[in-house]
Amino acid sequence: NWNMTNFIADQVELIRSQVGDKKVLLALSGGVDSSVVAALLIKAIGKQLTCVHVNHGLMRKGESESVIDVFKHQLDANLVYVDAVDRFLGKLAGVADPEQKRKIIGAEFIRVFEEEARKLEGIEFLAQGTIYPDIVESGTKTAKMVKSHHNVGGLPEDLQFQLVEPLRQLFKDEVRACGVELGLPAEMVYRQPFPGPGLGVRCLGAITKERLEAVRESDAILREEFANAGLDKTVWQYFTVVPDFKSVGVRDNARCFDYPVILRAVNTIDAMSASIEQIDYAVLLKIADRILKEVKNVNRVCYDLSPKPTATIEWE
Ligand code: XMP
Repeated sequence: NWNMTNFIADQVELIRSQVGDKKVLLALSGGVDSSVVAALLIKAIGKQLTCVHVNHGLMRKGESESVIDVFKHQLDANLVYVDAVDRFLGKLAGVADPEQKRKIIGAEFIRVFEEEARKLEGIEFLAQGTIYPDIVESGTKTAKMVKSHHNVGGLPEDLQFQLVEPLRQLFKDEVRACGVELGLPAEMVYRQPFPGPGLGVRCLGAITKERLEAVRESDAILREEFANAGLDKTVWQYFTVVPDFKSVGVRDNARCFDYPVILRAVNTIDAMSASIEQIDYAVLLKIADRILKEVKNVNRVCYDLSPKPTATIEWE
């Protein structure tokens, strides 16, 4: 009979027989799918797996640290941490077009991953967090977008690997259950979706360090207050956006000219359409107050009331 314990036991056997004593590589973003694949492979083959975590500078606050903490320190994995922050921000400097930004981030990600793969000797397998909806929905706009970043199929001919995709039969809720069973922390297993290009598409237009920090810090406050209010369990996706224009304000009796932060919280079933979450005003006011006090270069907070359509969930 099918249950998660049996699924894991079966997959461990299958992975061992597929891989033998060979080495496996995995791009570990810290998202649900790659994290669960990593945990499953660590259980099956331990140090034969090498995880590469690329920090592109567009991660949320504390995200790379938590990947290192969980996989290197708690699960004792072979983890290569690549600090590519300056590299990505350099490539993105002055680029304002959203699709161009996505392309640069995707292409640079593959380049960095390829360089790391070449440094490692004797890798024959590439593990991927492909799940069942990725297979059946490929072809729809959303699935393509979601895949454009995580799919490392853009590797050159001489770096082709055999694929290990142990989650390919699972739906998302089953992937999460698998992660829980494997002992991954709840924050990692139940986290909200996060786009491959990360905060890069929430720091609108040409990315600057100043506005990127404002997105990261305001997002951390929003997430913390949503968790305090229990909204992290009921709202599908929630984040902040910082546009590339300023507005006039007043601080300490003097004129200030700073950026706004836009709050967004939506519910959806399939990300093809989305509705606005009606957040309690007290929660919104607390978040606004904290952002205005704690986040640099910000003097205004707005709440986005636009469903999808006509808006998309992300602003870019
Ligand atoms: P939109 O903005 O199209 O987003 O309504 C629908 C869902 O997809 C996520 N999203 C992305 N995910 N790479 C990704 O991996 C992307 O380029 C990308 N753009 C949007 C978005 O966060 C939402 O969950």
